[in-house]
Amino acid sequence: MFYSDEIIEEVRSRSDIVDVVSGYLSLQKKGNNYWACCPFHNEDTPSFSVSSAKQMFHCFGCGVSGNVYTFLMKYENYSFPEAVKVLAQRCGVKLPEAEYTEEQKKLVNRKQRLLDLNREAARFFYYQLRSPRGKVGMEYLKKRELSEETMKKFGLGFADMGGQELVRYLRSKGFEDELIHEAGLAVMSEKRGLVSQFWNRVMFPIQDINGKVIGFGGRVMGDGEPKYLNSPETPVFDKRRNLFGMNFARTARTGNLILCEGYMDVISMHQAGFTQAVASLGTAFTPEQARLIKRYTDKVLLAYDSDGAGVKAAIRGIGILREAGLTGKIIHMEPYKDPDEFIKNLGPEEFQKRIDEAENSFFFEIRILERNFDLTDPDGKTKFHREIAKKLLVFTEEVERENYLQAIAAKYFVSPDNLRSLVASYAAQEGGVKPAERPKTVTHQKETPDDKAKRSQRVLLTWLTDYPTLYQKIRKILSPEDFTDELYRKVAEKLFQNIEKGNANPASIISMFDDDKTQNAAAEVFNTALPYISTLQEREQAFHDVLLAVKRNSFEQRRAVLAQEKDGFSRFLQAKKELEDLAKTFISLEEG
Ligand code: CTP
Ligand code: MN
Repeated sequence: MFYSDEIIEEVRSRSDIVDVVSGYLSLQKKGNNYWACCPFHNEDTPSFSVSSAKQMFHCFGCGVSGNVYTFLMKYENYSFPEAVKVLAQRCGVKLPEAEYTEEQKKLVNRKQRLLDLNREAARFFYYQLRSPRGKVGMEYLKKRELSEETMKKFGLGFADMGGQELVRYLRSKGFEDELIHEAGLAVMSEKRGLVSQFWNRVMFPIQDINGKVIGFGGRVMGDGEPKYLNSPETPVFDKRRNLFGMNFARTARTGNLILCEGYMDVISMHQAGFTQAVASLGTAFTPEQARLIKRYTDKVLLAYDSDGAGVKAAIRGIGILREAGLTGKIIHMEPYKDPDEFIKNLGPEEFQKRIDEAENSFFFEIRILERNFDLTDPDGKTKFHREIAKKLLVFTEEVERENYLQAIAAKYFVSPDNLRSLVASYAAQEGGVKPAERPKTVTHQKETPDDKAKRSQRVLLTWLTDYPTLYQKIRKILSPEDFTDELYRKVAEKLFQNIEKGNANPASIISMFDDDKTQNAAAEVFNTALPYISTLQEREQAFHDVLLAVKRNSFEQRRAVLAQEKDGFSRFLQAKKELEDLAKTFISLEEG
C-alpha cells in the first residue's frame, strides 16, 4: 500500500460516500438507501444502491460493490493511490509523502525505468527514420501521404534491418539487458545475444493518455508477416485499458469520439482534422476501453473496416458500448475499405458527411441480421420479423422501444401492430422485458460445491456485519481459519477485529485491497442477500444452518491435512466432536 492504513481510513471516513457519489449520479432516497441507475451497466430502472450506514455501494443488477475508493477507481479509472489523493484533497486531509514498502518502491521504480527506456527507444527510432538508414521507412510514410508535421506529432520512427544498434544504444544510456528484454524491445538469440525485436518496420509509439510511451506497434515494410507487430504487455503496457491516439483525442472537444481499427487510420484522420480518432491496440475493443472513453464523451462513432471482419468487430463493439451506457453509430466507408483509404480518395469534407450520416447502431444490427434471411420467401420473412422482435427487447424503456419499433416497422414494411404483438409474446416468454445482455457476473451457471461453500461463507459474513452483536455469541465457535477462501479469510480476520473494537466498519476492510477487482470481491462479502425470513425461529434455524455449513466445509478441508500430521487423528476426532456438538447447539438470535 502506498499510504498507511490509518491515513487511508481517515480519508475514507471523512469522505461520505453518498456525498461523493452524488457528484456523479443523481441519487434518490428510498428507505435506508439511495438509488440511481447503475453507471457500470446499462439500465433504465435504478438497481444501484448506496448505503450511508455501510458506506458502500452495491448494484443488484450487475453485482458491482465497493466503498468510496472502489467507486472512484471504477468510475474514473483511477488507481488506488490516485483515488486516495483525490479524496484527501476533497476532504482536506494532508497526505504524508507516500510510504512505499521496499517491494512497491521496486515496482514503481521499475515502471518508471520502463517508461524512461521506452522514451529513449522512441527517440532512437525517431532519429533512425530521419537518418540515411531510415530511407525506406521515410519513403513508405511519404507514399502514404503523411506530412512531416503528422509524423512528428505521432513521433513515428523506424527500426532498420540491423539487430544490434537499438540494444547498444539503450545500454549506452544505462539500461540493463533485463529491462530491455522486459520492455519487449529485444529478444534473446543464442548466437547473437540480445537482439532487437523490431526490424525493418515503421514504428508507432503507443502513448497513454498523458503522452507517456508505453509500447510500440511496428508495421513491416513490404509483405512480411506479421503485418503489424506490437510490444507485449508489460507492467506499463496494458492493452485493455489504453487507446491509440487518446492522448490527443481527449482534448478534441468535438462531442464525440471515432473508434477505428488501425493506427494508420487514426493518423490519417488526425491529419485530416479529425483529432477525435482513436484505435484499440491490435486487440479487440474492451469494456475497460469503453469506460476510458466514457470519461470524455458518451457518443462513439465506429469507423471499422467495411469487410466481414470489420462488420463482426463493429457488432461486438456496439454491444460493449451499449453495456457501458454509450451510444454507438456506424460510419460507412463504402466503396472504400477504411478511413485511411476513404480520406485519401474523397477527402475530409466527404468524410465529415459520412460522420453526419452515421447509422444508428440498432438499424445497423438489423440490417446485418437481414442478410441471413431470404425475404422473398414468406417463411424467411417471418423468421426475420421474429428476430427483429427479439432484438427489440434490448430496450427496456417503453418509449424508446416503441420509437424503435415504429421506425423499424416503417423501414421494413411490417405492420407495427403485428411487430408489437410479437415483441409482447417474446417479452412474456422471457419473463418480462429485460436487457438482452447482462454482465457475466449475474448469469446463472450451475453452482459447484466450491461455489456453494463460498456462498455460505459470504452469507455468514454479511450476517455478522449487519448484526455484529451476533458475533459475541459465536466467537468461541468460529474463527477466521474456518473461511477456506483466502480472500474471505482475510476479510473475516479484519471484520472480527473491528467488531471486537466495537464497529464492524465494513467499508474500511475494503480498502485493505488495492485493486478494484479484489475490492469488488471483498465488498460482495458484505452484500450477500440474506435469507428473507420473518419469524425469529426460522431466522435462528437459517443462521444455524449457514454457520454449520461453514464449519462443516472447514472440517472437510482440514481432514486431509490432519491425516498427514502427527497427533492428527486425535485432533480429527476432536474437530468431529465439535461439529457434532454444534449441530445440536441452539443459538438464540434474541438481543442481549
Ligand atoms: N493488426 C495487428 N496485427 C496484424 C494486423 C493488424 O495488430 N497482423 C492491428 C494493427 O493495430 C492495425 C489494425 O489491426 O493497425 C488494422 O489492421 P489492418 O486493417 O490490416 O491494417 P491497416 O490499418 O489497413 O494497415 P495498413 O494500412 O498499414 O495496411
Ligand atoms: Mn489500411
